[in-house]
Amino acid sequence: MARPALIAGNWKMHKDHQEALHLVRDLGLRLNATLTSKRVEVAVHPPFTDLRTVQSIVEADKLPISLGAQHCSHLDKGAYTGEVSATMLAKLQTRYVLVGHSERRALYAMDDSLVQQTASAVIGAGMVAVVCVGESTEERSDGLTDEVLTRQVTAAVRGLPDNAAEDLVVAYEPVWAIGSGQAATAEDAQGAATHIRSVLASVLGTAAAKTIRILYGGSVQPANTEELLSGPDVDGVLVGGASLDAATFTEIVAAAVRCYP
Ligand code: 13P
Repeated sequence: MARPALIAGNWKMHKDHQEALHLVRDLGLRLNATLTSKRVEVAVHPPFTDLRTVQSIVEADKLPISLGAQHCSHLDKGAYTGEVSATMLAKLQTRYVLVGHSERRALYAMDDSLVQQTASAVIGAGMVAVVCVGESTEERSDGLTDEVLTRQVTAAVRGLPDNAAEDLVVAYEPVWAIGSGQAATAEDAQGAATHIRSVLASVLGTAAAKTIRILYGGSVQPANTEELLSGPDVDGVLVGGASLDAATFTEIVAAAVRCYP
């Protein structure tokens, strides 16, 4: 498979800028020894207040880490107190922006339409939108997983520019697996990723769909990474809790390097 793996750490609302500085320095040193494959890319998504600090260290020390953000506004500028625009993030050399994480959907009323508009803003600003999708516990027990994924993916990518596939990553994060210690099985992750790729193909075309990376997220740990990455349609992982410790996150990267030598 030509798609390189993406190992992304979502720090959520953890680490102030001083803690971020220590974490990214530590991570950088460890990655210099561990990240021996050109087929594995590492990204971190710190809180907004840490971005400048992390970007400065990554640039000064030439660390093999891409910068990510966790969210942004769908609008470019104006009287929107508390919001941050995609162009502001792009100016800080941010490469990836999570769009529609389930916590934003559930706690901050981000609906499918807003996800689409935000993905569009991210791509328009020259960054990569990491669109997060996934079913809830109830939807899963009602057998609605594929239906939910079809709806979320179709809504997010419909109307994106023709060449948007280059700047799109989809993260499958089943809500029941997030922070629960109960990761999806490799079969479930692969099944969902295959379905997502088929939906992407129906909207953007087969050739484009083949180039888009699909990540799995939800209780990823060093011990389950290799298995989760074994599915041919699973191109990386989006890691929450286990990305807050440099040693643990590096073990996840090491597992990815074994899968993508
Ligand atoms: P955990 O890895 O802590 O389950 O979080 C997953 C997640 O939400 C990443 O975006």
